[in-house]
Amino acid sequence: MENPKEIVAKSALRYITSGDVVGLGTGTTASEFIKALGASPLSKEVTCVPTSLETESLAKRLGLNLVSLNSVERIDITVDGADEVDNNKNLLKGGGGALTREKIVAHYSKRYVIVITEEKLVENLGSRMPIPIEVLPFSYVQIIRELNQMGLSCQLRKNFTTDNGNYIIDCKPNQKVLKGSLQDLNKAIKLLPGVVETGIFINFNPEILYHKNGQVLEIK
Ligand code: A5P
Repeated sequence: MENPKEIVAKSALRYITSGDVVGLGTGTTASEFIKALGASPLSKEVTCVPTSLETESLAKRLGLNLVSLNSVERIDITVDGADEVDNNKNLLKGGGGALTREKIVAHYSKRYVIVITEEKLVENLGSRMPIPIEVLPFSYVQIIRELNQMGLSCQLRKNFTTDNGNYIIDCKPNQKVLKGSLQDLNKAIKLLPGVVETGIFINFNPEILYHKNGQVLEIK
């Protein structure tokens, strides 16, 4: 029996066409997509841009053609997972710590497909999972103090360094922040010096594929 992540990830293969430059996401669901792509006849007909070193090594093992983001003019389509998706198709990402490269690749992608299982659909981002924030190690203690003052309860992710050599701070929003404006929150966090990126993905216009009871459903 296939697992739900595998089912939904495989279904994204139908969006890939020969000649595409494909952005490869990070995480367990994105890995299922990469495995399916590696096993398909399209594997020799596409070029891929990985969003993490982990994804890069998986894709290499599967024989996919890899290039860096700087060497392509465009990314036709990116397929990635997410930790949470709200009713407005805003995403929370970074459970695996790859949020910065994931956000950059998403920004340069014409089409952005998110593959998730049903429990990741939420009313408010930050309700199931803390909001991950990538920061420079130089000032992480100061940043945590400031984030706490903004109504976030923050912890340094232990024994973890991102592919960019930075730290991740995981932040649980209080009720007021949870119900407040995501745009304002994201802006306020990003204005703190030393913050590299947040796991809040707003306005990426993703196509959401989600698994529910053995079926793949779509939010366009
Ligand atoms: C990686 O940093 C994340 O953004 C992942 O895309 C996200 O955590 C989803 O991962 P899973 O598919 O493993 O749940």
